[in-house]
Amino acid sequence: MKVTQAELVISAVSSKQYPQEALPEIALAGRSNVGKSSFINKMINRKNLARTSSKPGKTQTLNFYRINGQFFFVDLPGYGYARVSKKERERWGRFIEEYLTTRQQLQLICHLVDIRHKPTRDDQMMADWLQAMALPRLVIATKADKISKGKIAKHLKLVKETLQLAKDVPLIAFSAETGLGKEEVWAALQPYIDH
Ligand code: GTP
Ligand code: MG
Repeated sequence: MKVTQAELVISAVSSKQYPQEALPEIALAGRSNVGKSSFINKMINRKNLARTSSKPGKTQTLNFYRINGQFFFVDLPGYGYARVSKKERERWGRFIEEYLTTRQQLQLICHLVDIRHKPTRDDQMMADWLQAMALPRLVIATKADKISKGKIAKHLKLVKETLQLAKDVPLIAFSAETGLGKEEVWAALQPYIDH
């Protein structure tokens, strides 16, 4: 897809602020610092439209990016960030859950995990929850530039086994540095955008 237009429409802190439009939405879920905001920037060829940070916990709101006036990428706050209070984490959890369970426009969830490591317990919980909710999803293994090419298949296998991914859940290695996997991801998103 050629992206000609991308804009942050709203950083929502409550469901009342979600955009009114009926455009399809594709949400990014994953641990803090896994690369959700970087993923959006790479996909749309913008260096810093979605704000990124080397420190986890950067994105704390639901950020709706309208792409080509056609669909939204929805950047969710990351889970598993230890340096906030339990109360705060629970509040985020409810906030994210509310979006994922009630939003009619939501078509697909991109679940991002770090290709370098075995998925964490939080990742497993998220994968189980998405599976149980029967929400359409795609698993994206990020930071693939940080391992050698020859090891990618082995790491993908570990992700697939640890998250117990069903055969119909696509799993794609991705790098926001090199653009690896970008075309494959666009191809996987297309049917949900055209919905
Ligand atoms: P939160 O907003 O805290 O939930 O984090 P996030 O998932 O949005 O992560 P973000 O995109 O801010 O990236 C976190 C850090 O990882 C930044 O320093 C990025 O530059 C780096 N990063 C993200 N993706 C990649 C990648 O594919 N390769 C490499 N080498 N670094 C990456
Ligand atoms: Mg972010």
